[in-house]
Amino acid sequence: MEIRGTDTPRLDWSGDALAVGLFENALELTGDLTQLNEKLAGTLQELIDETEFKGSAGSIAVTRVGAGSSIRKIMVVGLGKPEALNLDTVRRATAAIARSAKQQKIKTLGISLPVVQDDPARTAQAIAEGIILTLHVDNRFKSEPEDKGAKLEQVELLGLGGQEAAINRTKMIADGVILARELVAAPANTVTPVSLAQTAQEIASQCGMTVEILEQEDCEKLGMGAFLGVAKASELPPKFIHLTYKPEGTPHRKVAIVGKGLTFDSGGLNIKGAGSGIETMKMDMGGAAATLGAAKAIGQLKPDVEVHFISAATENMISGRAMHPGDILTASNGKTIEVNNTDAEGRLTLADALVFAEKLGVDAIVDLATLTGACVIALGNDIAGMWGTDDTLATQLKAASESAGEKLWQMPMEEKYFEGMKSPIADMKNTGPRAGGSITAALFLKQFVKETPWVHLDIAGPVWADKEDGCNNAGATGFPVRTLVNWVLN
Ligand code: BES
Ligand code: MG
Ligand code: ZN
Repeated sequence: MEIRGTDTPRLDWSGDALAVGLFENALELTGDLTQLNEKLAGTLQELIDETEFKGSAGSIAVTRVGAGSSIRKIMVVGLGKPEALNLDTVRRATAAIARSAKQQKIKTLGISLPVVQDDPARTAQAIAEGIILTLHVDNRFKSEPEDKGAKLEQVELLGLGGQEAAINRTKMIADGVILARELVAAPANTVTPVSLAQTAQEIASQCGMTVEILEQEDCEKLGMGAFLGVAKASELPPKFIHLTYKPEGTPHRKVAIVGKGLTFDSGGLNIKGAGSGIETMKMDMGGAAATLGAAKAIGQLKPDVEVHFISAATENMISGRAMHPGDILTASNGKTIEVNNTDAEGRLTLADALVFAEKLGVDAIVDLATLTGACVIALGNDIAGMWGTDDTLATQLKAASESAGEKLWQMPMEEKYFEGMKSPIADMKNTGPRAGGSITAALFLKQFVKETPWVHLDIAGPVWADKEDGCNNAGATGFPVRTLVNWVLN
């Protein structure tokens, strides 16, 4: 499928289907749309009238145009209220167009949507994201796919001629999002700590990055007792992944992205019970998937920022070697942890990963983790929780997430709640009371970052979607690869 910008006026465009964006309650055809309607023998107006099209955001209607016309179908897509127009409106409108075009087996599609905030490059990016990400289908595990994907061969973005660079950048970002989706969607008997390390190595060789995989013995030497405590029960070797992107010139900043990489979370001896969603716990490497997805995008985009991509990858399993509830682990910064719940394993693996990241002397650390069910209870499935020790960094991530259309909500780092994590025998326990469970998890992580500006994103909700929404299809979303890329690039 080819996507390109064109300056061909919509009146002159020819192809299978032309999609035109219309604002809510501003459906009176004016200007070139009056001419387009005349050219189509009144079909555009009829479509609006007959479907009672109102222009609400994401709504869509399509009809056949009479023979002899230069287009076969005309689509109208709702943009909502003009004052609320933003990049996500355009991305969502495009998602609706892409789904309809797929259903209609369209081969050549023209999309005419307004330019947002006088920024044709970002508008072209949002539209291209809408197309590529909506149409991505994952048939890797189907012997005979029912959904064979879209027939689209060519998409032209009207009014966006000359935006090739933006469209190319979007392809690189989408590559990263799709990698993250496919890593999360793949089951735990396919995506393992070993395969994640291999994926990191592939990205490194494709994009000219360096990669270091620390084996169990290396982690032992570094004193990563928290990570290794979790890894103990698994039959699979743990892999500590450190992938580095260095720009050619002098980097203008140096950052680390750290992702929770539990390729399966059974809960350990505090095993997850029936109804706990244990069968969905292949997604517990969503942080690592987004980290590698961001690496794949950034390795192609080549910004002048040094980026370290880190994940302590393992599984949380049970066996005779499993860590016992009550065990005391010593993390690589010397702090001791009484494991009062083996199911709070993500924070144990992250503890050592954060200590490792800080030792690199970076200017900022962002971690991403499917850390707590409590965060999903607080914010639902669409919004990630954000905790931070640095307002500037939190503001940067908030801005990056807004233009990506990936939602974050800043949560309180309420120090007082750390009282609930006090242990009579060790420096801390790994879990506190049920109330405020996502906050105590963030406070736990904070014990492992001394002074580097740091933000933690709890992505347990948005890594997975139960149904399609915007450019997400049901299943793995690739959240928050686009936010991370925006953050690194800006
Ligand atoms: N991986 C889970 C969190 C999770 C829950 C991710 C739902 C995605 C969807 C994490 O390791 C976990 O088990 N957390 C426990 C913590 C508790 C024991 C304090 C939880 O949230 O129940
Ligand atoms: Mg767990
Ligand atoms: Zn987990």
